[in-house]
Amino acid sequence: MDMSRRVVATVAIGVLLTLVTPVRSAEILTGRRTASFNADWRFAKGSQVGAEKPDFDDSAWQAVRLPHDWAISGPFNPSENGYAGKLPWRGEGWYRKVFTLDKAPEGTRVYFDFDGVMAFPKVYVNGQPAGQWDYGYMSFRVDATPYVKLGGRNVIAVHVDTRQHGTRWYPGAGIYRKVAMTVCNPVHVAHWGTFVTTPTVEESSATVQVRSTIENHCDTPAQVVVGLVLSDPQGNPVATGLKQAQITVPAGGTAEFDPSFPIRNPQRWDVTSPKRYTVKVTVRVGDKLADTDTVAFGIRTFHFTANDGFHLNGRRVQLFGVNLHHDHGPLGAAFYTRAMERQLEIMKDMGVNCLRTSHNPPSPEVLELCDRMGIVVWDEAFDKWDGTADRVRDQPPLEEHGERQIRNLVMRDRNHPSVVVWSIGNEIGGGGRSGVTPERVKFMSDVVRKYDPTRPVGMGCHIPEMARQPNFDALDLTGWNYLRRYAIYRERYPGKPIVYSESASALSTRGFYELPLPNRKNEYSRQLQVNSYDFNAADWSDIPDAEFKLMKDDAFVAGEMVWTGFDYLGEPTPFSQQAKSSYFGIVDLAGIPKDRFYLYRSYWRPETTTVHILPHWNWPDRVGQNVPVFVYTNGDSAELFLNGKSLGRRQKGVVPQGPPNFAKDRPATASTSQNEHPARHVTDGAKDTRWCAATADPNQWWQVDLGETRTIRYLAIEFEREEKNYGYEVKASNDGSAWKTIVTKSTSRSPRWGGPTQIFHDVDAQGRYLRIEFTALQDRVWASIREFAAYPDRAESDYYAPTYTYRLRWNEVVYQPGELKAVTYQDGQQIGEAIMRTAGAPAALRLTPDRKELAATGEDLCYILVEALDNRGTLCPLADNLVRFKVDGPAEIAGVGNGNPLSIEPFQADYRKLFYGKAMLILRTQPGQTGNVKVTASSDGLAAGEATALVVTP
Ligand code: GAL
Repeated sequence: MDMSRRVVATVAIGVLLTLVTPVRSAEILTGRRTASFNADWRFAKGSQVGAEKPDFDDSAWQAVRLPHDWAISGPFNPSENGYAGKLPWRGEGWYRKVFTLDKAPEGTRVYFDFDGVMAFPKVYVNGQPAGQWDYGYMSFRVDATPYVKLGGRNVIAVHVDTRQHGTRWYPGAGIYRKVAMTVCNPVHVAHWGTFVTTPTVEESSATVQVRSTIENHCDTPAQVVVGLVLSDPQGNPVATGLKQAQITVPAGGTAEFDPSFPIRNPQRWDVTSPKRYTVKVTVRVGDKLADTDTVAFGIRTFHFTANDGFHLNGRRVQLFGVNLHHDHGPLGAAFYTRAMERQLEIMKDMGVNCLRTSHNPPSPEVLELCDRMGIVVWDEAFDKWDGTADRVRDQPPLEEHGERQIRNLVMRDRNHPSVVVWSIGNEIGGGGRSGVTPERVKFMSDVVRKYDPTRPVGMGCHIPEMARQPNFDALDLTGWNYLRRYAIYRERYPGKPIVYSESASALSTRGFYELPLPNRKNEYSRQLQVNSYDFNAADWSDIPDAEFKLMKDDAFVAGEMVWTGFDYLGEPTPFSQQAKSSYFGIVDLAGIPKDRFYLYRSYWRPETTTVHILPHWNWPDRVGQNVPVFVYTNGDSAELFLNGKSLGRRQKGVVPQGPPNFAKDRPATASTSQNEHPARHVTDGAKDTRWCAATADPNQWWQVDLGETRTIRYLAIEFEREEKNYGYEVKASNDGSAWKTIVTKSTSRSPRWGGPTQIFHDVDAQGRYLRIEFTALQDRVWASIREFAAYPDRAESDYYAPTYTYRLRWNEVVYQPGELKAVTYQDGQQIGEAIMRTAGAPAALRLTPDRKELAATGEDLCYILVEALDNRGTLCPLADNLVRFKVDGPAEIAGVGNGNPLSIEPFQADYRKLFYGKAMLILRTQPGQTGNVKVTASSDGLAAGEATALVVTP
């Protein structure tokens, strides 16, 4: 094939490059050199007058290695609200680094690539302002060429200032992602300049389209020969039929090389077998290799459909997704590839095939990992379009800022086969100066399409009514957060795909259990921890089981992305004031799975055996009392044994009979009623019917006749609207004329959003008649009841009915210490078993490292799980001993944690208290230092624990 005909060399008139120098081919470097620029920085907090100057004395500054988050070392401010982790992230800081550059031909380019600096970085090279950026989550390049001394000493200084950064969680502070330096010839492939697409993909062949932009920074046109080498996923060269193309790149301009070619029997990228090809673009000047740009890409087809969810390579793939914020708990915002890889390994083990990078551009390595591990990605540009996007008082203009950030995001990430959606934002309200309007959504979407026309543009939405206006017209798909809020959108746009971009927001604390069980999702413990029986969720969201059911019922939705896979720093709903980190995670802040992990795993991985028993079995205060036991398993049934005695076999999908509802189908009357909403609808057992008073007047009542005098211990009332809207008294009477008040309840404004419509009251009453008398109603709310039930005993809310489909529950277990054993079955065949034992007093520490061999890069990590065991080796689930760590050998402590959202012990320390029996120690290697590492953990009165690892040359 004659390549010259297939190559379109476009002179990009608009792109005139800044610096133009002469170049002769004899004087060029061989290829580009890109090197890590993470080592040997110095750092100081504060304004540091004159720190940009090369001769500034920084000898008293702290020596640091990137990535670096200055705020994670604390101290915590306990009196501060927990929204951003109570950590000192707000302020200014400076980084400086001295470096030498080799002698190189005149015109040699020097670039610095920053992957993320929080926030508003200003970069100085040898005292000169060389570049700046205005979004803390986005990668950017600084062209240092005009300011560097080739063959001499140079100083780079970076000013960081988070004071104007807006956030709803812990953002971190400093140069928290990697920095790289690239030295290259003045003729080179542009930054993020190679874009590979696959316009046609069929079983036996695919077309690959490469588009590479070549820059020429010289003052004369450059004659270059561009070629490419394609390799298959196994690394073998693939014949493309292409030779080389000769291109003239104009002086100070760019030209494009955009060949396309077929390849036979393409190996697909898929979540089940993530295969990638690589293309290497080579640029020759004369007889020298001036530059190469290597890009990995995947061949796959995908579609978000309106009626059948997400299709990958021709089949429906239900998205089992999680949202992940950018922090890594004890490591803060500092990005380590291994920390992320570990997160994704844990998520994959749970069944995850989809990640939403909430709500910001991730570190580029995240996408590299997702490509490699087979995880599709919702790649998100912004949370809001205001201060969290680093727009200060609406400056710079939304369009200019949006275009700049989205350009970098899309150009940086568009070759990753894992990326399947570009999101232009999350939960942006309507109108105003930085809110959603149809024009703004169109503008942002068009910017995405300008840089990548191949993927859908979406957005995380949260206000259903916004879909009544054309706000979302320009999007290809929408994500909706929580509660089936997509209903209106679905009606308006029946032909557009929907993703459940945030689901669950369920809450729990690892290891913490409290009885009796809550009966409403927002009935939280008073202990500032959240019950790990997985019955709690935020007001505006649901328990996992409810979401499993919803995704089944609404199979047109592509699948869910759970809020969140891991706990994160900040946003500690529901204890926003007291705690410092979230309760949302399926895995805790230290990286230890909570019970919920096994619930997801058992449903998302039906073919893999999961048998998990909860709670722990150490309840000294409840001997002889009820402790419910749940089993999370992929099996359809299980038998539970306590101390060898069977407690019965349970089958998924069987909801046990609760106590009788004395009000069911009994005659009812009311003060007034609308014709279509009569009083009897309240006892008909149907939630979709209701009684409603005939007027808005709050002085209304509704009454039921139970037929005979009953002893009543529990009431359940389901209102038309959230129960917070209704103030009332419930009264009981034997004769219908003398009444006794048994419940008094006022209206309230909390929760601020949503909240349950159902309410329960523990009562101790006798009576034949029960009456609810309204005393107050919130604005525009009428007296209106869907269901009223009166029980002789506590009855579980039907909200929890779906839990019987996804969990196996033994509600009536009477606690005796000893051994619980669950034997699980699928279709009658035993598939597995698990044991939970009562532990004695803590006797020893056990250390379990996640890896035994580490690389001496200075960025490799080892996570060591620390546990307290009794003298028979059983985990002590209540242990909170203080543990001290000693590290011998070439590694250092990167962080410690225990998953307690309330803990304000430092993350960077050589000690940690256990939290419900466990803690985590994270070690980091040191550059170039190899050998054996030995970790010793000790605690008063316990036998010490030990772990070893070997650090090797990378
Ligand atoms: C969502 C929001 C997330 C997080 C979550 C907590 O509405 O998009 O960023 O705040 O609520 O439930």
